[in-house]
Amino acid sequence: MAGAQLRRVAAVALLACSMALGPPAATAKGMSAGIAHNITSFLSGHPEYKQYNRYLTETRVCDEINARAGVTVLVLGDGAMSALVSDAGADLGAIKNALRLHSLLDYWDVKKLKALPTGADTLTDTFYQASGGAATSATGSVKMAKLEGGGFGFASAASTGDGYDATFTKALKQTQYDFAVLEVSAPIEFDGLFDGPSAANLTKLLEKAGCKRFASLIASTGVLKDYQAAMAGEAGLTLFAAKDDAFMAKGAPDVDAMPRADLVALLRYHALPGYNPRPSLKLVKASARPFRTLASTAGGRFNVSVVARGDDVSLDTGLRKSRVAETVLDDTPVCVLTVDRLLMPVELFAGAPAEAPSPTPAPAPSPAADAPLSSPPGPPPADAPSEAADDHVHKDVKKSPATVAALSSVGALACSAVLASLL
Ligand SMILES: *[C@@H]1O[C@H](CO)[C@@H](O)[C@H](O)[C@H]1NC(C)=O
Ligand SMILES: *[C@@H]1O[C@H](CO)[C@@H](O)[C@H](O)[C@H]1NC(C)=O
Ligand SMILES: *[C@@H]1O[C@H](CO)[C@@H](O)[C@H](O)[C@H]1NC(C)=O
Repeated sequence: MAGAQLRRVAAVALLACSMALGPPAATAKGMSAGIAHNITSFLSGHPEYKQYNRYLTETRVCDEINARAGVTVLVLGDGAMSALVSDAGADLGAIKNALRLHSLLDYWDVKKLKALPTGADTLTDTFYQASGGAATSATGSVKMAKLEGGGFGFASAASTGDGYDATFTKALKQTQYDFAVLEVSAPIEFDGLFDGPSAANLTKLLEKAGCKRFASLIASTGVLKDYQAAMAGEAGLTLFAAKDDAFMAKGAPDVDAMPRADLVALLRYHALPGYNPRPSLKLVKASARPFRTLASTAGGRFNVSVVARGDDVSLDTGLRKSRVAETVLDDTPVCVLTVDRLLMPVELFAGAPAEAPSPTPAPAPSPAADAPLSSPPGPPPADAPSEAADDHVHKDVKKSPATVAALSSVGALACSAVLASLL
């Protein structure tokens, strides 16, 4: 174990240094194929970026960074970060826009910056661009340049001024082609960066997204009020709204025939009490525990499982899966997504035949009211028997990011030593 660890430390140190020493190691790209970095655990080893790290976590931008190979994060020390938070009016959605603008969709290390052409700006895309939040491509890009007096300047491509908002201060992490963390002196901003979507009218939003039936049901049952309460709370809300087609689909429950209490539970089941945008859902591990919904009981009934496979995200109710389709709204801490099929909690529809793995839809379920009577000997809720096993995997999985982080910081240290001796 100790020997293997030593070898890994040596490998990481070697890898981290290879960029300073010359041509890339052939393995650098291969290593970034999985999720090779974790910005949260990396920054937690650097207390001077505590605020930055905190907001990366609260806005879940950390998940977007961690899911991508070939990313450069321009971080701000606590002083500069407080200036950004104050410019953003301490609004989490506005801060999220800014953090996305500071996350470049390419790998930039000191060596690459030194190779920038002199006397001209170079543009690079950011997550702000990729999120579709940017109105024009200029607002989603950052321009970089070598400064006359030495050093490197950064500004929004949309800023009209001559100067640069921020200058490069130091490199904290440079894992070639995968992940770079560079400190800059000040926030990069432009007029309009902090404008979020206006206070959302959920009903209107859902109607426009093809979820009219869902919108009318949440209004008539009063569940809309539960959603709104969660939206106004600190934790936020993730809503999975069923498209109009979903109510007509084969196997869909007849919501008009459902007892009111069941319908309320069904609709509450379509929302999570927390902010889980699509990029975060994509990172949910197979070993993760089911999520609480607004219908969940203290005992964990009406929980739902998130199943992520590559770009695909589905929700597994224990009876069947529904694919998460589009993002209708992502305004931290609220996000509204659509689902292709109604989520049918096993607690309400246990009488319905569980779905075969084939794509053929299950026959129409019996009405909820007589579900307990007609219960077939179908499979038990999937999570119950595997709980102990899950626990086990969960702990094992949890161990690895810390190990990776520890190894990475050793790599970074070795790397800065080499860098220091070269510069
Ligand atoms: C990254 O590290 C943090 C803190 O160490 C941890 O909570 C989080 O689960 C890690 N993320 C991934 C994707 O492993
Ligand atoms: C929200 O939109 C719906 C449908 O367009 C409308 O009937 C309702 O009055 C709006 N609510 C508010 C508070 O503006
Ligand atoms: C329900 O979800 C919560 C939150 O993830 C979890 O702590 C709990 O173990 C889950 N319960 C069951 C029975 O799945």
